[in-house]
Amino acid sequence: TGAITIDPGYKNSGSCKSEITFLDGEEGILRYRGYSIEELADKADFLEVSFLLIFGELPNKAQLEKFENDIRKHTLVNEEMKTILEGFPKTAHPMGVLSSLTSALTAFNPKSVNVENEKEMYEAVCKTMGKFLVIATWTYRRRMGYPLNYYDNTKGYVENFMRLMFEIPTEPYKMDKKIVDALDKLFILHADHEQNCSTSTVRIVGSSHAGLFASISAGVSALWGPLHGGANQAVLEMLQEIHDNGGDVEKFVLKAKDKEDPFRLMGFGHRVYKNFDPRATIIKKAADDVLDALGVDDPLLDIAKQLEKVALEDEYFKARNLYPNVDFYSGIIYRAMGIPVEMFTVLFAIGRLPGWIAQWKEMRLNKEPIGRPRQVYVGNALRPFKEVKDR
Ligand code: CMC
Repeated sequence: TGAITIDPGYKNSGSCKSEITFLDGEEGILRYRGYSIEELADKADFLEVSFLLIFGELPNKAQLEKFENDIRKHTLVNEEMKTILEGFPKTAHPMGVLSSLTSALTAFNPKSVNVENEKEMYEAVCKTMGKFLVIATWTYRRRMGYPLNYYDNTKGYVENFMRLMFEIPTEPYKMDKKIVDALDKLFILHADHEQNCSTSTVRIVGSSHAGLFASISAGVSALWGPLHGGANQAVLEMLQEIHDNGGDVEKFVLKAKDKEDPFRLMGFGHRVYKNFDPRATIIKKAADDVLDALGVDDPLLDIAKQLEKVALEDEYFKARNLYPNVDFYSGIIYRAMGIPVEMFTVLFAIGRLPGWIAQWKEMRLNKEPIGRPRQVYVGNALRPFKEVKDR
């Protein structure tokens, strides 16, 4: 065991070879299967990108239509799942409910998928994409005490998300194309990000040959934390706090630099990007466009811009190469769309789902060994047991 090197947080350890996502942190480059994120966000839609990530190539028209249709076939969720949903208090955080419900899907789909069988794997992909979207919206319906909606087969995947979330019996959901298009773009930007914390979790859980739903449920839990996907909620709460404290951004930048203070500037910094996060660049522009198009004037957007400006000029942030990340501006767009803050990380999860599936599939097809890191033991040496009366 003398040869073991410890690398906390795996800062310098690769866990696998992958053909899915290319990321160059120095240059701020992100590509899915060789296509630039800028081009995909501009020209593709979310299901096309999902297909690309999972199956390796962009779908042709027939493949895409079939994919959409096959996902649709799997959007009915077992009625007994509703009993489980109703067991949660309305105050439960949607991410906890989502993780639990994803895990509960294993009860109704107990057969494990044979990853080598293309047809079976394709079915499992469509099933996961269909059911996950629906239960993700259930977490909100439960919170609001609204009745559950069913998927509308005449509408697209992202539009269905908005309908499933917001349509109530007294008020049919009026589709706003600007919102659906912006959301589609946001999902694409979140769709994969190589071996991040939640994706590594999905791969490592799957490496014991646990099923797809079980692995994804673990991914949802990993994503929830504020250092990862939970940052989008934390950013908005931070911006609100700055706003409620008179908008003094300098004060919060000082707090973030203070090593005695646990506060960090949420939405800033990244393990890999050391120049800029290309997703943040696209999202910042989208925030301006979407708020303009919806006619929303959000003081939190001004605060975010001021905060970014002050931080980027600050020696502390410069020296550590800390830049706004994907989570910095996304919440402002979600808020303009009427999405409640507790749902922000659920939206990240919906976007990340195809990435998790693609990575799980690749890991199994590559026959990767069980993930099992080593350690260096630094605890007590052998010592004699003491009876309880002698302790
Ligand atoms: N505010 C203040 N200081 C920071 C921040 C921040 N947001 N991020 C990093 N630092 C400092 C950190 O204190 C350390 O300073 P020093 O060298 O003096 O000890 C230095 O920068 C390096 O940070 P680190 O924690 O060693 O870096 P890491 O790669 O382990 O962590 C991170 C990356 C994203 C967890 C971290 O930057 C962070 O906590 N950011 C805030 C949370 C956030 O926005 N997360 C979303 C990440 S992007 C999307 C996603 O994954 O979901």
